[in-house]
Amino acid sequence: MCGIVGYIGSNQAAPIILDGLSKLEYRGYDSAGMAVFDGEKINAKKAVGRLKILENLTHGGETMKGTAGVGHTRWATHGAPSDANSHPHLNAKGTIAVVHNGIIENYIPLKKKMISKGYEFVSETDTEVLAHLLDYYYKGNPLEAISKVLHRVEGSYALGIMFSEYPDEIYAARKDSPLIVGQNEEGCFIASDVPAILKYTRSVYYVDNQEIVQLKREGMKFFSVDEEELTKEAVTIDWDADAAEKAGYEHFMLKEMYEQPKTVTDTISPRIKDNDIVIDELKMTDEELKAIKRIHIVACGSAYHAGVTGKYVIESLARIPVEVDFASEFRYRDPILGDDCMVIVISQSGETADSLAALRDSKAKGYKVLGIVNVVGSSIAREADSVMYTWAGPEIAVATTKAYSAQLAALYLLAMKLAKANNRVSEDRFQQLLVDLRKLPEQIELLLGQKEKIQHFANRYVGAKDIFFIGRGIDYAISLEGSLKLKEISYVHSEAYAAGELKHGTISLIEDGTLVVAVSTQPNLYQKTISNIVEVKARGAFIMAVTSVENQAIEKASDYVVYIPQTDPLFTNSLAIIPLQLFGYYVAVGKGCDVDKPRNLAKSVTVE
Ligand code: F6R
Repeated sequence: MCGIVGYIGSNQAAPIILDGLSKLEYRGYDSAGMAVFDGEKINAKKAVGRLKILENLTHGGETMKGTAGVGHTRWATHGAPSDANSHPHLNAKGTIAVVHNGIIENYIPLKKKMISKGYEFVSETDTEVLAHLLDYYYKGNPLEAISKVLHRVEGSYALGIMFSEYPDEIYAARKDSPLIVGQNEEGCFIASDVPAILKYTRSVYYVDNQEIVQLKREGMKFFSVDEEELTKEAVTIDWDADAAEKAGYEHFMLKEMYEQPKTVTDTISPRIKDNDIVIDELKMTDEELKAIKRIHIVACGSAYHAGVTGKYVIESLARIPVEVDFASEFRYRDPILGDDCMVIVISQSGETADSLAALRDSKAKGYKVLGIVNVVGSSIAREADSVMYTWAGPEIAVATTKAYSAQLAALYLLAMKLAKANNRVSEDRFQQLLVDLRKLPEQIELLLGQKEKIQHFANRYVGAKDIFFIGRGIDYAISLEGSLKLKEISYVHSEAYAAGELKHGTISLIEDGTLVVAVSTQPNLYQKTISNIVEVKARGAFIMAVTSVENQAIEKASDYVVYIPQTDPLFTNSLAIIPLQLFGYYVAVGKGCDVDKPRNLAKSVTVE
C-alpha cells in the first residue's frame, strides 16, 4: 500500500520525509519519490526499487534543500513500477506536485477530458489526472482548486499536495485511504500512518473522509470538502514503534484480517457501474466471453482454494464447466484443453514458480490466460494475456487472508459477468446478487466484531492434536482454506474433508473430544451436513458449526455455533472464512507461535 509523508517547518524537509517513508516500508512498495520546494521551484526525485536508492540519489536528502515537501512510496496499481509512474506527479509547468494513496476510479473519463483540453500525460497512473485537474482548477487559491478536484473524483485517496506559489503551505486531503497529520514546535507533518511521524510528535489528528488540511510551519487548519473551516481534536498516541507499524494490532495477520472489508470493497466497487459489472481488464467482448466453453483454474495453496470456490460459483451461475488444478500438477499432467477454453491463473504474489510455469505452458500451447493477481507488474501479471487485479494491497503476514478474500470477490465478479454474457441469469437475480455483493464488506466487519468470542473458544484448543474441517459443496471449499489457515500458523494437524466422504476411512481418527469444525451455509445441504455432524458426534467429536442465521436447527447437533449473516448461498465463503481465520489465528497466538512468519514457509514460493 502506498505511503505518504509530508513536512513543512523550520527544518530541512527531505531528510524528515525519507526517515518517515522508511518507517512506512512495512506497507510494501516498489518505488519512491519526493518533491521539495527549494525557494524558487519544486524539485522532484524518483527512484524505482528500495528507498535506499532514493536516499543515495539525494545523499540522504541533503541535495534537496528546502523546508516544505511531500514524499511517497508507491505500490504499483495503475502501471508497472517505473520512474514515470512513481509519485510525485506534477503539472506540466512543475508548479503543482501531488502524492496519492488510493484509487481514482473514474480516472479514465477524467483523463480523456483532460487530454481533450490539451493536457499531456506522461504516466499510466490514475494519480496523474489529479495533477492536471489541480492545474486546471487552480486560479490562485489552492483550497478552492483542491475542493473542485475532490468534487470531480470518485474512489479513494489520501493526498499530499504543494503549490509553488504558496511555498509556506502544504495540503492534505483524504477519502477512504488512511491519513493523519501532526504537529510539534518546529513544524507540521502529513503521514499515511503513525510510525512515520512518531519520532517527531505523539499528538496527531486523524483526517476524516472528505476533509482537507492546510499545513503551515506554525500550525494547521482543517476544512470540509466545501471549504468550510472545521475544528478537530488531537489524539495522543501511546503505542510503541513496533505496535504503531501494525496500527496497534498484535500481528500483521490480524491487521490484514481487519483490512478485509476494505479489500473486498476495493476489488468490487471499481467494477460495478450503473448496476452492471464492467471488467475492462478482461479485454474481451461479451461475444468472446460467450465463446468460452470450459475454464481451467490453476493456482497453489490458498489461491487454489479460492479457485475451488470459483468453480462452484462459475458453474452454478454461468453453467460453464470448470476444472481446478494445483499448478504443480497441471504442469505435468498434460491436461486436455480445447480451443474454447480459458485458463485462469490465480496468485497473490504473481511470482509463484508453479503457477508461472503453468501460465507459460498454457500460453505456449496457444491458450489465452487470465491472471487474477495482486501484485502489479509481477511476472504473472506481465505474462498473462489479461489481468484482473485484486486490490488487496501488500500482504505482509505469510498466511494470506485479505488477498484470499479479494480473490473470492474477483471470482464472483467474473462468474456474474460470464453468467450475464451467456444469458444464464435473470436480471432480477443479477441485481439481487449485486446487492448481496455490496453488502459483503459490512457483513465481514460484523463477523470480525466477534473476535473475542472466537478467541475464547480457540483458547480451549491450543493443546489440540488434530482438528477436522468438514463441509459439502461450496462449504467444502471453505473447509479447505479454514484447515490450511489453522495448520500453517498453529502447527496443529488438520484436515478438510467433504462432509459425506469422512465416513469412508478418515472417521476412524475421530476420538473423544476431537474438534470437528462443520461448515454448513448451503440451504439445500443443511440436513445432509447435520447427518454427517451426528455421525462424528456419535464417535465423541466436539462440534463447532459455522452456519447461516436461518439454520438454527444445527444447534441441537452442535456444541458451539457461529452464525454468518444472510447472503446469497454462492457468496457465503466470504463470510464463513472470517471465523475460521480468527480461530486459526487465536489457536496460534495461544500456542505462542510466530504468527506472521510461520516456520518453513515463505511469502512467495519461487521454487518448484
Ligand atoms: C497460505 C498461502 C499460500 C499461498 C500460495 C500461493 O496462507 O498464502 O498457500 O496462497 O503459496 O501463493 P500466491 O497466491 O502468491 O501464488
